[in-house]
Amino acid sequence: MDALLDSPPWTSLFPVHPATTDAQWWRTAVVYQVYPRSFADSDGDGVGDLPGITARLDHLAALGVDAVWLSPFYTSPQVDAGYDVADHRDVDPVFGTLADFDAMLARAHALGLRVIVDVVPNHTSDEHAWFRRALAAPAGSAERARYVFRDGRGAQGAEPPNNWRSIFGGPAWTRVAEPDGTQGQWYLHLFDARQPDLDWTNPEVRGEFEEVLRFWLDRGVDGFRVDVAHGLVKADGLPDWDGTTAMVEGGADGTTGPMFDQEGVHEIYRSWRAVLDAYPGDRVLVAEAWLDSLSRTARYVRPGEMHQAFNFAYLTTPWDADRNRQVVVDSLAASDAVGAPTTWVLSNHDVVRHTSRLGLADAGSLPKGIRALDEQPDAELGLRRARAATLQMLALPGVAYLYQGEELGLPEDTAMPDEARQDPAWFRSGGLEAGRDGCRVPLPWSADGPAHGFSPTGRSWLPQPPSFARHALDVQRGVPGSTYELYRRALALRRHLQLASGSLDLVELAGVGTSDAVALRNRDVLVVTVHRGAPVLLPAGCDLLIASDDVARDEAGSLVLEPGTTAWVLPPRAARLPHARTTG
Ligand code: GLC
Repeated sequence: MDALLDSPPWTSLFPVHPATTDAQWWRTAVVYQVYPRSFADSDGDGVGDLPGITARLDHLAALGVDAVWLSPFYTSPQVDAGYDVADHRDVDPVFGTLADFDAMLARAHALGLRVIVDVVPNHTSDEHAWFRRALAAPAGSAERARYVFRDGRGAQGAEPPNNWRSIFGGPAWTRVAEPDGTQGQWYLHLFDARQPDLDWTNPEVRGEFEEVLRFWLDRGVDGFRVDVAHGLVKADGLPDWDGTTAMVEGGADGTTGPMFDQEGVHEIYRSWRAVLDAYPGDRVLVAEAWLDSLSRTARYVRPGEMHQAFNFAYLTTPWDADRNRQVVVDSLAASDAVGAPTTWVLSNHDVVRHTSRLGLADAGSLPKGIRALDEQPDAELGLRRARAATLQMLALPGVAYLYQGEELGLPEDTAMPDEARQDPAWFRSGGLEAGRDGCRVPLPWSADGPAHGFSPTGRSWLPQPPSFARHALDVQRGVPGSTYELYRRALALRRHLQLASGSLDLVELAGVGTSDAVALRNRDVLVVTVHRGAPVLLPAGCDLLIASDDVARDEAGSLVLEPGTTAWVLPPRAARLPHARTTG
């Protein structure tokens, strides 16, 4: 009996990733994304703001994250929810003032939280002083040379300079009226027409952004999330391209097109890295680079470039054990090859929340928003799998990013009335894409109270669906089994067990089909995610540390893991690593 109790539950182990003793915070952090419009509204206008964030930072400290990333709060006409920046050195009045920013930063630091801010270098707002001057100046002027202005093709230049499409739909070029009133040049915008692309071959643009970085570094920020980091440099000559210009899907040949991932972007980040390295305190750069290939993504985090790059391959992996195992192994191989951490992520402000993606029939597909007339996710199944996915993510070595509200198990709002939608992707695609509003709905802090505690007046820039009452923080806090308590406990255990700096092995469990479940070992902790098939039994000698849902023991004392569950367990004592046996 003892021998049975002591024997390991695996038939083999394959090493994937070594433990690290490197203590830099950005190699192991859990970072929580705050979407300022939707986090907490202090002044009652229905849009979240910086004082609202400051007042709620203790929630993040209690949750147990290490850092916060704030989506843009800069001066902006809010055409793309602040990703259209009109002044990179000021706060939009809807969010507060620079003094409010400083107070927020001071409070975060007092709570031991680092703060990463967004920088949006691919484009500006059309209300940026530079673009206004560019419109007022003639073709060929220095003012125009900060953006990508070109003459049109065809008779009288009536056709756009090339065939590129905007990521939000429609052409990527807009023709301007020249100051004398005649039809004139065209300017490039990979996103909305009110987001003109900057020309990064222009040294003035480079100089300006280095100054913008210094402006925020001087105020004390701990780093930057770099928006569309793979887009700044376009291929010489702006050649036509027949692929789909999209953040995720590339062309048939596997490339993301002449507008993305050009070699020239890397030189920009090497110079930015030098700017950051001149400051004390380990400041970081995080790449938002939607690339199909993990090895191309890893090039952004080579020595001397950025520190982290979001692992979107992990986010886009469907609910499938083989694919899940493969992406974990490939991700660590790609980032280990360049000495960087892997930056796991499951949700953000641009994608359908993983609670809802994983409840679709094609679980883990990535629709561009979900409308009421589309297939509706199975909410219960989606939440169950989302909790399992998150618990796997938090056991993986490296960095993890959480998106606000996922700690409450918030679903995508799939019933939002079309009249409420605000995403430019909804408008520019002519309603073909629902867009991203469904994951951006303001947070429910309390089941009762105006706007579920989001705003003192009850206003909310996107309507909150009735289901938000069930997910409110105050009905989950202190409640065993709630998603909030699952996150809180998992974060505490992750820290205590030092999983973020741990080693990773692939595990083959006796009698478990590899297409049904993924088993990993980080340090001593066995992490099992059951995707489908029969329940996975772990022998009686295993100690359960945490599970994403209820785990029973059968009459033999084995742990029974049902499909849609992740569990962290300590294997029988004799099967633990030597360091654990001596301390055990
Ligand atoms: C990034 C942002 C997204 C924005 C786009 C244009 O992908 O995450 O929200 O619309 O860039 O700035």
